[in-house]
Amino acid sequence: MYINFWYVACQSSELTFGAQKPLKVMMLGHNFALWRDTKGDIQCVSNTCTHRSGALADGRIRGDCVECPYHGWTFNGKGSCVRLPSLGPDAKIPARTRVDAYPVEERYGLVHVFLGDLSEEERPPIIAAPEYDDPEWRFIPFILEWKIDYKRSVENTLDPAHNEFTHPTHGFLGSREDYAVDEITLEDTEWGTGFMNAMKSPPLPQREMREGSGRDGDGITYAGSGNHGPNVTWTYIHISDQAWFHGFAFHTPVHEKLDRVYGIFGRNFMQDPKYDKTFEDRSLYVAEQDRYVLEPMDPIRTPRSNAHEFLVPADKAIARYREFCQTWEDNGWRLDVNRIRADQDEIAYAIPSPARRQAKSWVLPAAPLLKARKPAIKAVG
Ligand code: FES
Ligand SMILES: [Fe+2]
Repeated sequence: MYINFWYVACQSSELTFGAQKPLKVMMLGHNFALWRDTKGDIQCVSNTCTHRSGALADGRIRGDCVECPYHGWTFNGKGSCVRLPSLGPDAKIPARTRVDAYPVEERYGLVHVFLGDLSEEERPPIIAAPEYDDPEWRFIPFILEWKIDYKRSVENTLDPAHNEFTHPTHGFLGSREDYAVDEITLEDTEWGTGFMNAMKSPPLPQREMREGSGRDGDGITYAGSGNHGPNVTWTYIHISDQAWFHGFAFHTPVHEKLDRVYGIFGRNFMQDPKYDKTFEDRSLYVAEQDRYVLEPMDPIRTPRSNAHEFLVPADKAIARYREFCQTWEDNGWRLDVNRIRADQDEIAYAIPSPARRQAKSWVLPAAPLLKARKPAIKAVG
């Protein structure tokens, strides 16, 4: 798991204006308190109170602030303690009582939180999906929660070879004599890799699909996928020149063994909401086929070295994704999960927030990170 990327905490609709209680959300193995302030802006702070470790998310919202349920210390959206009742009304509150506060953006109906200490100019962007606001497109949301390491699921999205076997709905279970995966041509961005492939496709099964896509009979489907940062993927399926599906999956590692996925799945044809259920059912049915192979994988996390798996050319995008992850680890952005786990009953770490670049003295220690090291992983092909 990596700091310095955007992670989806919840859907926008889960944080209501005027609510009494904050929302507690675990991301990257750490708890956070989120609430909507009086202006409607969303605030997110580290959950552990700097006094004596009360859980802020179990307290209440007071105006623009969150109040700890234990002794009433009150923190604003910047993380500063603005009320410390036991000192009396006129006391000067020490700055070191602050908690970490994180940048938040609402986009695509989702609440994105920047979990890291990079300044605004240095931060990776949230993935661009301009079609989300295009009236020609219709998007439906979905949420999945699987007992896996999120990277296994990201790699599954980048894997063109699993369709044939994992998804008998669009593969042939290896029964075709001439089956092979076409060569993949990767295209990198600053934050990931991806590819598109052309595939021969049989006639579309439903009349509405044939009419909506303008494709009658055999055709060519252009489909592909890619990653943006360690935890976001895109999938494009163009079943004809005019009928396109674009899906985006925002993986939030609740912790290293639980992946919550906030998805948005869009189409530029058959936009009538009456078709939503059909597309939703179909997506969830296919996702369930993926879950069936991913949850039993052993080990649960991707190995630290590619030598402990045997990658082939069809795994080219996965190898490239692992190279990207290695560069983020080299930056010193990868959490030292083993140490955090070993310490967890005694030490509440905080994911470092941007304010740690200025203020050096904090009550909660910053979550330990793996030391930067030289790249050790080579791409296939
Ligand atoms: S533990 Fe939060 S106010 Fe005391
Ligand atoms: Fe799949």
